[in-house]
Parts: sequence; structure tokens; C-alpha cells
Amino acid sequence: MTQQEEITRRRTFAVIAHPDAGKTTLTEKLLLFGGAIHVAGAVKSNKIKKGATSDFMEIERQRGISVATAVMGFEYAGCKINILDTPGHEDFAEDTYRTLTAVDSVIIVIDGAKGVEAQTRKLMEVCRMRQTPVIVFINKLDRPSKEPFDLLDEVEKELHIRVRPLAFPISNGPTFKGVYNLYERRLSLFTSDEKLTADASTVEIEDLASAELDERIGAKFADQLRQDVELVEGVYDAFDRDAYLRGELAPVFFGSAVNNFGVRELLECFVRIAPSPRPAPTETRTVEPGEPKMTGFVFKIHANMDPNHRDRIAFLKICSGTFERNRNYLHVRSGKQMKFSSPTAFMAEKKSVIDFAYPGDIVGLHDTGNFKIGDTFTEGEKLRFTGIPSFAPEQFRYIENADPLKFKQLAKGIDQLMDEGVAQLFTSSLNGRKIIGTVGALQFEVIQYRLEHEYNASCRWEPISIYKACWIESDNAAQLADFKRRKHTNMAVDKHGRDVFLADTSYALALAQENFKEIRFHFTSEF
Ligand code: G4P
Repeated sequence: MTQQEEITRRRTFAVIAHPDAGKTTLTEKLLLFGGAIHVAGAVKSNKIKKGATSDFMEIERQRGISVATAVMGFEYAGCKINILDTPGHEDFAEDTYRTLTAVDSVIIVIDGAKGVEAQTRKLMEVCRMRQTPVIVFINKLDRPSKEPFDLLDEVEKELHIRVRPLAFPISNGPTFKGVYNLYERRLSLFTSDEKLTADASTVEIEDLASAELDERIGAKFADQLRQDVELVEGVYDAFDRDAYLRGELAPVFFGSAVNNFGVRELLECFVRIAPSPRPAPTETRTVEPGEPKMTGFVFKIHANMDPNHRDRIAFLKICSGTFERNRNYLHVRSGKQMKFSSPTAFMAEKKSVIDFAYPGDIVGLHDTGNFKIGDTFTEGEKLRFTGIPSFAPEQFRYIENADPLKFKQLAKGIDQLMDEGVAQLFTSSLNGRKIIGTVGALQFEVIQYRLEHEYNASCRWEPISIYKACWIESDNAAQLADFKRRKHTNMAVDKHGRDVFLADTSYALALAQENFKEIRFHFTSEF
């Protein structure tokens, strides 16, 4: 196969959802279709059960699992599909945000009874920022759900994206009859525990006026479906793939993941419409996947939880060219040549050493502590990929050294954990104290635990009341200086020395934005 053919057949995506909507279940069904796993239950839910927040073994267990399932590759209909796993717990949301920088599209799972939830909204913001194409799967139709048109409106309004149903459900809950596939004009009748390959429950119904529809689902539901489909065709424009690829339009499917219902339709549509690897922006130019030379960036670093092997795995997304084992590549940040004797690829349950990888693929690189999130590898060109931002943290604490004899260990530990993207470090301009900012509270426990177990250092947290940290800049140097002087007690620098405003309250932030019109307040570190 040529490099271009390898690229064209790749689909690299993530399934994202609010916890409990069915992400793990759907992922597992997709893998079953691909033959990547053979029994249900093989994909472990990587979420930390409620109430387990202080159970470190649980955190360890979950981290261990998410290494194993960080990338799940499989073949389907001639496509090489790479699913990038995202942590289930919302405290690890930043990890999810970063994973989204390495995908070419996403599938969003929404619970049909709950509709759009908080985490879905946040994740969609990241997708919108990157114009990532999204497909929506509305799940759990076997349970009493909201009305489909209400759900469609809700998705459109809450996620700020136009929608186009490509399938339409017939009732829900105890009377759920199935789904009518609008582009194949096929009716899928709902039977729980649908066999994976059986098409017996699917019938082609070209003409919805046909009596067969009444026979299959009863006159009442048949009439309802006819009305619904008429309304869909009347209200929504024909599906526009280009709008989908631009991230402006989301096709919507309905089903029940746990019953494996509606999943085949989703997957078949996905392989047809989802994009193959897209061009990747760098500071200097856009890299096309088809370029002959290898480029890629690190989007995730994972600590090895085996106490005897503290090394880490860096996950490299290949953006162009062909990655080869044992070949020298330039690590752009350090300027050093590096080669990898055992790069790994991930196929569902196992990982194996690979010789080649293509754009869209994720390669696991052994790291002894040299890599940072965002690091770029090339064949010599000094590129830096953009679009791998840090997000404004929402939880803050002072970090203090609890063991004066372990100062060095603590500094090294903090440094490496920040490189891994576990949290962000700010230094207060007021008193020089170190502040750790995270997306979720659980992160503080993870940091403390890992400092102790991996770096032999101990830390203590002290409270600090901050509403939000945002990066500031301005073309008006005088105004910026004035702002920094007045807000002296609320200023800090991040680890790159950039100015950060630590707002005490949302009111203080709004007021600052109001009073200092020429200052730009950024909620991601890349602008
Ligand atoms: P998540 O990864 O998005 O957090 O969700 P997950 O797949 O773990 O699913 C959350 C719960 O919802 C699970 O039940 C799962 O079985 C259930 N579920 C997923 N899809 C459907 C569906 O289509 N219909 C119904 N009725 N339930 C669905 P649980 O009780 O939390 O876990 P388990 O003990 O059943 O595994």
C-alpha cells in the first residue's frame, strides 16, 4: 500500500461523553465490530467510582488501565481505525482536552434521558475551537428518553452546532420499536441483545407509505414515524458532508449501546464520512499528511505505574510521512537526534513493537523523563505544532515542601509532573510562592501521592482562594504595566514566564475585563 493509501484509510477519533452516558459501552461495541476484542467486558471502564476519590489504589488502578487502553486500533471495512481513550473522571478533563488535539474527529455520546450535560458542553467547546468534525450518538433509547426533536434542539442550542439526524427513533423506553435510517432508508427493529452480525431485524423500506411499515411496528408508530420523517425532511437541509468536515454540522444517530443497537449504522456512516488525517498547523506552516518526511507531536505522557520501572510512555501522533523504528529523528526542543528501538502501537488489548507507523497513528515512545507535552519530532526541520494549549485551571492550592531534606526531589517531581500535563505551576508575583492549578480536585491527591511514590518527596497543600487563572497580554504596554501594578497581589507567572492574572471571583474578572479594555484575557495558554 502506498503512503497515501495508508493515510486515506485512517480514521483517528475519540468517543467523548459526560460520565455515565455510555462512552465505555459504545467503545466496546465498536471494538467488537472490528473484531479487536471478542468478549464483552474486555474494555474496562476507566472511571473512578464515586466515593473513591481518596482511594489511591483506585487511582493507580485506573491509571494502569488507561495506559492499556490509551489507544485502541482496529480494522473495519478497509479502514484502520484508531480510538483514543479519554479518562472517564471529570477531574482528568484536561487529559481529555489534550487527547482531542490528536484526533481528526469525535463521536459524542449523549444520554437520551439526560440530554446535554455539563461535561459534554465543555468538551464540545474544545472541539469547536479546533473545528473538529463531530457525530452525535444519542444513547439509551431503550429507557424512557426525551422527545427526539427536543433532543435535537437541545444539542443544537447547547452545543452551538447545527444538527442533521441521519436516523430517527421510533418511540423509546418500554415501547422503543427501533430506528429508521434516513440515508439508507432502512428500518432497524429493536430487539434487545441484537446479534452482532444478524441483519434479520433490519428491513429496507424505501417508501414509508408502504403497508409493511404498519405490519412491522403497528399503525400508531408507523404514522408517527411518517410524520416525524416528513418533519425532518422539511426542517433540516440535506446532509452536507463538507459542513460536517468543517465542524459546523453534526449528523445525529439514535440507539442503545448496551444492546448494540444502532451501533453498526453509526460505524458504517463513520467510516464513510469521517475525515482521514487532517493537515496540522505549526508555528511556521501547515503540515500535510502526505508529505514524505515524518513529523509528529507528543500529546500525552503517561507514567509507568510499575514501581520497578518508573519510566514513562510518551504518545506521539504522526502528522506526516512514515515513522520508522530505529531511525534518527530530531527532537526539536532539545535539538537532539533520537531513535527508538521499541516504539509500540496499540491494538485493543495488547501493544506491540512496530516497524512503521503512518499519519493518524499513535506511537508509544519510551521516555526517561526527557519529553514534554507538545514536543515535536521531525527529520530535521525545526517545526513546532500549535493547537496543543493548556486550559485555564479552576482549582488552586499553594504547594509547600513538607520535608526540607527533600527539596531537590520535590522540585524535580513537580517539574516532571507539570511536563506530563498533570497540572500547571504558577509563581505568585506577590510572595514568590508556588501555586498549583488543576482542572479537578482529585489532581491534588494524585500529585501528592505520585511525588511521594515516584520522587520520594513530600508536599503539603495550603488553601488559596482563586476563581480562575487567565493569561493576559496587550498591545498597550502602558495599560498592561498599570494593570500589573494595580493587580500586583493577583499576578503570577506561568512556567514559561508569561503573565497570569489570578482572579478572586467571577465579578473581579468581569470588572477587570470591563476596566481594562485593551488587555486580552485568555482562557487557554495558546493564543
Ligand atoms: P461512561 O463510560 O460514559 O461513563 O458510561 P458506561 O459505558 O460505563 O455506561 C454507564 C452505564 O450506562 C452502565 O451501567 C451501562 O451499562 C449503561 N448503559 C450504556 N448504554 C446503555 C444503553 O443503551 N441502555 C441502557 N439502559 N444502559 C446503558 P452501570 O450500571 O453503571 O454499569 P454496569 O455495571 O452495567 O457496567
